[in-house]
Amino acid sequence: MSHMSAIVAIDGPSGSGKSTTARQAARRLGFGYLDTGAMYRGVAVACLRDLVDRHDAAAIAARTRTVSLDISTDPDDQHLLVDGIDATAAIREPYVSAWVSAVSTNADSRAELVRRQRELVAGGRFVVEGRDITTVVCPEAAVRVLLVADPVRRMARRAAELGDAVDAAALRDQVLRRDKDDSTLVNFTDAAPGVVVIDSTDLSIEEVVGRIVDLAREAGLA
Ligand code: DC
Repeated sequence: MSHMSAIVAIDGPSGSGKSTTARQAARRLGFGYLDTGAMYRGVAVACLRDLVDRHDAAAIAARTRTVSLDISTDPDDQHLLVDGIDATAAIREPYVSAWVSAVSTNADSRAELVRRQRELVAGGRFVVEGRDITTVVCPEAAVRVLLVADPVRRMARRAAELGDAVDAAALRDQVLRRDKDDSTLVNFTDAAPGVVVIDSTDLSIEEVVGRIVDLAREAGLA
């Protein structure tokens, strides 16, 4: 990655408020926004379309290398084309959320997606959000943040997103089981040296965004 890049790297578990805050921070800074989780989800959609077996790691890795992912980096217009077909809504479906850990726990898929993510942000000004951005994708980012929140609060936020229909078991699956699966190959629970931890449990979205924008200004990015 170019040393001229102006990167704000944000990692954190699901329900930490990461996507909303990262997108708003990008908007305020006038930066692009890269949602790397959407790319993992896009690979899952490609595998589902092709009826790839979720236990076939070699097939998942192969599909990751061949899939075309056209992801927008405009914080105000998020869309994703998977092999040219719009998957913006599909990647948020529960069956994709349930499948995606087969991609995120695949080391070869990760290597391919990390390579593409670095290429996408090289030389640009981006807020990049995921699980391994501060440690693997952009370890040299000028601002590196780990967003954490109490698991009970994260489940409450997820419940609010999903509406009334969700039961407690499904919630635990979406938050706690996914944390566990997502931690197989990356560590996003402990901050690497130099990474600023922001605990959003008792902060509003605006407060978290404000802190991130302040960090970017202190680092001379804005
Ligand atoms: O943030 P999200 O829920 O959209 O992420 C989707 C999946 O991809 C989730 O299982 C975590 C994984 N992921 C990852 O392993 N590394 C990233 N940089 C981003 C997401």
